[in-house]
Amino acid sequence: MPSYAITGAARGIGFEFVNQLSADSRNTVFALVRSKATANKLTELGRRNIHIIEADITDNDALESAAKEVSSSTGGSLDFLINNAAFVESKRDGLTLDFYGPEDLLTKDLLDSFKVNVVGVIHTINYFLPLLKKGTAKKVVTLTSGLADIEVTMNAHFAACAPYSISKAAVNMVNAKYAAQFEEFVFLALSPGLVNTSTKDPNESDMEKFSAMTGKFREHYPNFEGPITPEASVRMQLEVINGTTLKDTGKFISHKRNKEKEWL
Ligand SMILES: NC(=O)c1ccc[n+]([C@@H]2O[C@H](COP(=O)([O-])OP(=O)(O)OC[C@H]3O[C@@H](n4cnc5c(N)ncnc54)[C@H](OP(=O)(O)O)[C@@H]3O)[C@@H](O)[C@H]2O)c1
Repeated sequence: MPSYAITGAARGIGFEFVNQLSADSRNTVFALVRSKATANKLTELGRRNIHIIEADITDNDALESAAKEVSSSTGGSLDFLINNAAFVESKRDGLTLDFYGPEDLLTKDLLDSFKVNVVGVIHTINYFLPLLKKGTAKKVVTLTSGLADIEVTMNAHFAACAPYSISKAAVNMVNAKYAAQFEEFVFLALSPGLVNTSTKDPNESDMEKFSAMTGKFREHYPNFEGPITPEASVRMQLEVINGTTLKDTGKFISHKRNKEKEWL
């Protein structure tokens, strides 16, 4: 009976992890959400093996009580932690570091990205570590992004999405630091691909934004056909998560299990 905790589970990729994992009634799935009031998609699934717990990952008290709640339900253990929650400031995606508008806004986006995407992830791992040590799988997966890849950034001359990319590059190192310390664990920094998590109609949603972003990468990904669905991304990510072993710990890999030019 494997147990999973997923942060940022009310929507997008996080929701889909809960959906696919809870489809197997042998799994126990802890869906961590910022507010139960926005967790209607999870409650609509109506599955008894889903436990919805409130936790903003920037709130240490909330993380501590979430870990206690998981612990009391599992008898003290957890098998898999999936750090999915992230701060994504999409309104200012296209701006570059030198042309961001007011300095305060740049500072805010840098700090907000770091606070959630790096510091929040570290505290989440720390609060759940005692449980993970008692689990059998001992896998910690942190969602990162191909935008954190320095080589691709340089090759594609991709200067946009800076605060987010910087925070994801930092969390890759967080992943490596834990992997270096806890040799009995698998720590993975996993990129989910380019995933359409918009709630709008896929035909009229963020396609413009996606094309602007992917245009830069076309040269490197000539076969890229557009963003994938959360369903496809999570299916591929679960294959990677299940397929990785201790020799993979500390890696920064994609949903295709390959770092080299496979972020999309
Ligand atoms: N979509 C992509 O193409 C893509 C590509 C590369 C990497 N990723 C990564 O994949 C992960 C999921 O992406 P997504 O597209 O599903 O994102 P999303 O649709 O923007 O959802 C983000 C989730 O994170 C939660 N969240 C934000 N701040 C939080 C906080 N302080 N504490 C707890 N939860 C918080 C949100 O909660 P609320 O529902 O309460 O707002 C939401 O559930 C992220 O780590 C993202 O960086 C996504």
